[in-house]
Amino acid sequence: MAERELWTGQPPGSNPFALPRGPLGRAAGWVLAVTNRAQNAEVLRAAGVAGCRRVLEVGHGPGVLVRMLAEVPGLSVTGVDPSPEMVAMARRRNAAAVRAGRVRLHRGTAADTGEPDAAFDLVLSVNTVAMWPYLDPGMAEFHRVLRPGGRAVITWHRFPESFRLTPEQLARVEEAMALRFGAARRRMLPGSVVFEAVKEARAVPGGSARAVQGA
Ligand SMILES: C[S@@+](CC[C@H](N)C(=O)[O-])C[C@H]1O[C@@H](n2cnc3c(N)ncnc32)[C@H](O)[C@@H]1O
Repeated sequence: MAERELWTGQPPGSNPFALPRGPLGRAAGWVLAVTNRAQNAEVLRAAGVAGCRRVLEVGHGPGVLVRMLAEVPGLSVTGVDPSPEMVAMARRRNAAAVRAGRVRLHRGTAADTGEPDAAFDLVLSVNTVAMWPYLDPGMAEFHRVLRPGGRAVITWHRFPESFRLTPEQLARVEEAMALRFGAARRRMLPGSVVFEAVKEARAVPGGSARAVQGA
C-alpha cells in the first residue's frame, strides 16, 4: 500500500486497527472482534440481505460480519481485506463455511477487490472508509462489482467520539458515492453512520462519475 496521506489527512499505517499487521495487528484483530460485534450486527440488520444471493464484504477484519452473513441460509459470502493477518483470522473464524465453499476470503482493497464485474447483489464495508487512500477508486470498484440494481452499504463509527469523522468528511463520503452511483443516501443508526446507494438498473460502465481528480 502506498505510503501517502489518506484522504482524511491521517498518515497511513499509524494505527494497528487501521491496517492490522504482525503480532500487534493480530491483537488488534481480537479487540476488533469484541468491540465491533454489536455494530456489525446493527449494520447487518439495517442493510438486510433478503433477496441477496452473493454478498461481498470489503475490509472484513477478523471476520465477525462474514460469520453472521454465512449463517444466512443460501447466501454465498466473499470477503477481502488487505491485511494477511486479518484474512487468516477471518478464515479461522469461518473455517467450516470456507471448507463448505460458502465463504471465500482473500486479500484485496476497496479499490481493487480482485472480483469480476457485476458479481454481487450487495457490497458492504464497515469501519474501513477512513482507511482508504482515496474515496473515488473505492466507490468505482464497488459500482463495478455490483450487478445492476445491486446495493452498496458503507458505514462508519459514531462512537467513541474520538473515532468520528467530521461533518465535512462525512459529506465527502456521501458526495463520492453519489458521483459514482448517481445518488446516495445517508442515515444514522445508534452506533453507525450509513451511506447507501443502488447501482442503476442499466448502469453505464464506470458509473456516472464525471470529474474525479483528487477524490
Ligand atoms: C477498523 S478495522 C474494521 C474491521 C471490521 N470491518 C470491523 O468492523 O470490525 C479496518 C479494516 O479495514 C482494512 N483496510 C485497511 N485499508 C483498507 C483498504 N484500503 N480497503 C479495504 N480495507 C482496508 C484493515 O485491514 C482492517 O481489517
